[in-house]
Amino acid sequence: MKSRLLSILLLAAAVISCTNNTHIIQDNIENAKSQLAFLIEAAEADSTLKIPSTFKNGKVGFVPAKDWVSGFFAGSLWYMYELTGDEFYAEKAQKHTEILHDIQYLTSHHDIGFMINNSYGNGLRLKDIPGYDTVMVNAARSLCTRYRPEAGIIQSWNIAKGWQAEQGWKCPVIIDNMMNLELLFKVSMATSDQSLWDIATSHADKTLEHHYRDDFSTYHVVDFDDQTGEVRGKCTAQGITNESRWARGQAWSLYGFTMTYRYTKAERHLKRAEDIAHYLFVEEDNMPENLVPLWDYDVIQYANDTTEMIALFGDKEAMLPYVEIRDASSAAIMASALYELYWHTKNKFYKKKADKIIESLSSPTYRSEVGENGGFLLMHSTGSVPHTYRGLKKNPNGGNIDVPLNYADYYFLEAL
Ligand code: GLY
Repeated sequence: MKSRLLSILLLAAAVISCTNNTHIIQDNIENAKSQLAFLIEAAEADSTLKIPSTFKNGKVGFVPAKDWVSGFFAGSLWYMYELTGDEFYAEKAQKHTEILHDIQYLTSHHDIGFMINNSYGNGLRLKDIPGYDTVMVNAARSLCTRYRPEAGIIQSWNIAKGWQAEQGWKCPVIIDNMMNLELLFKVSMATSDQSLWDIATSHADKTLEHHYRDDFSTYHVVDFDDQTGEVRGKCTAQGITNESRWARGQAWSLYGFTMTYRYTKAERHLKRAEDIAHYLFVEEDNMPENLVPLWDYDVIQYANDTTEMIALFGDKEAMLPYVEIRDASSAAIMASALYELYWHTKNKFYKKKADKIIESLSSPTYRSEVGENGGFLLMHSTGSVPHTYRGLKKNPNGGNIDVPLNYADYYFLEAL
């Protein structure tokens, strides 16, 4: 009798939890329908389509097709099609995908994986539109021009000009680059081109070997010798210091190895994803209760240490304006990765953490009211905090602080 009662109670709890999840998903979809109407209007206001990336000073900001975030708006429209089944979103997504057509030949940085896989890749997966497969193949080939076979890695940034030229790097690889491997795995499977698979696997394994600290937090940048594969240095470009833990980098790291395992089914890739999750959700003392982190897990510690601040920046107050700033984008990326890690492992711990993130991001603290935030779904993301720090002579593309970002919305919809 007792055990029957217990079964009934467990079943009831499961039904309530499922209903709550369905409710939160549906509620977010309804909110996204209203918000995206504003963003679509902004993107289509002129005779040429534009790519919304953020909302600042009361205006939607747009990026050119060659910007690393150019694929996320089209990708969000594809996810809205997937979430609603409404052909309206498929039509919009197709239009906004195809303005990225020329990007398939981009070889000047590694982000073509983000740009083409999130737009054309989702279009191909959901609608099998003729010609999208060719774009994916060309994009994969473009990405592979950045492969350095002696080192076994894909070079992230060029070093001939810009702020990167001043760092003394030879072959910088950033943790974000793990995200681009999905393009290679997909195209390799579609074309049976083993070389793409081998490049992706080699890059993942070199990252696994060299990017991580003992606690499984990741460095942002590892500089390789492209001829010998020797590691020349480890540092940051977007974190507070070389040894700090830049929040979005940790999120790319978790997602990168979870996604890589989806394709390789290699135990070492799953183990790394689980070690990263353990670091983030068990060991990281600065992970807040709502699981939406500050932009760098170490920002408070550095900002509170006057001696350290003067040594690093020559100014004891350099970080003070930024100590409270969160990065909702890193939370959204982690939520999506955790749901996938849960599918792979059936470990409910991951789902619980992902649900908690979605609950936080769906609250009025992070999710915008309809008609506000320029039409973006989430508030409070951080692109890059501007500062000059040790080993980095110039501020790299600082900006987009505490604003909506199109990639936060993309990974939020993906998680839903
Ligand atoms: N991949 C660039 C960034 O996360 O800011």
